[in-house]
Amino acid sequence: MARRILAAGNWKMNGLQADGLALASGLAAQRKSESNAKVDMLVCPPFVLISKVVDAVAGSGIMVGGQDCHMTEKGAHTGDTSAWMLKDTGCTHVIVGHSERRTNHGETDDVVKAKAEAALAAGLVAIVCIGETLEERDAGKTLDVNRRQLLGSLPDGATAANTVVAYEPVWAIGTGRTATPEQAQEVHAMLRGELVGKLGQGIADDMLILYGGSMNAKNAKELLAQTDIDGGLIGGAALKVDDFMTISHSAP
Ligand code: PGA
Repeated sequence: MARRILAAGNWKMNGLQADGLALASGLAAQRKSESNAKVDMLVCPPFVLISKVVDAVAGSGIMVGGQDCHMTEKGAHTGDTSAWMLKDTGCTHVIVGHSERRTNHGETDDVVKAKAEAALAAGLVAIVCIGETLEERDAGKTLDVNRRQLLGSLPDGATAANTVVAYEPVWAIGTGRTATPEQAQEVHAMLRGELVGKLGQGIADDMLILYGGSMNAKNAKELLAQTDIDGGLIGGAALKVDDFMTISHSAP
């Protein structure tokens, strides 16, 4: 198994230029002083900060990603950004299908899949997000919902090198209410099993499955210790240099 933990920061719609630059350069400075980092680090700033953040983290090994992309390469899509533009600006990854996009912008599994395929075509790694609502969990539908979203959103041509899955229970996002390590592991193990069926054992063994939803400096260690949790997609706690660095040091 060649899975290396990934700490991915999703800044969402937070930070003006000065904030984003301070965060990016703070992370870069700390990262540069580490000779033997055990985890990969990625930050996903708002679109308008991406090129400045790319410059600020240059030489640190920290990667930069977008938070969304359009499903096509170019054209009359006011307000949208293509995966090719992200790639051209220095991004390596893009988040697709975050629950805030699914809820606020009506994105379906088909849309998320098309965006993920655009990401792959542009040469980016797609971080495909899925997750159940509290209502669905309470109704005992957690595994079914996540299975359906995974199979419906995975891009054709997915490999461990071009696709990352992020399990983000909607009820845990930004609420301070984290899934227990056991709850998260149960879903991750099911997802890994589905990936075996869909992509084969080799790809499934190597594909990263991140957990997201109130991961923080305190709970990261326990979550990352689970067999099938290969990193975090981190919102609030990724906005503070010390917290995000602590999470990056929490790999088993
Ligand atoms: P949170 O957000 O860590 O603030 O819960 C995670 C996410 O939505 O990616």
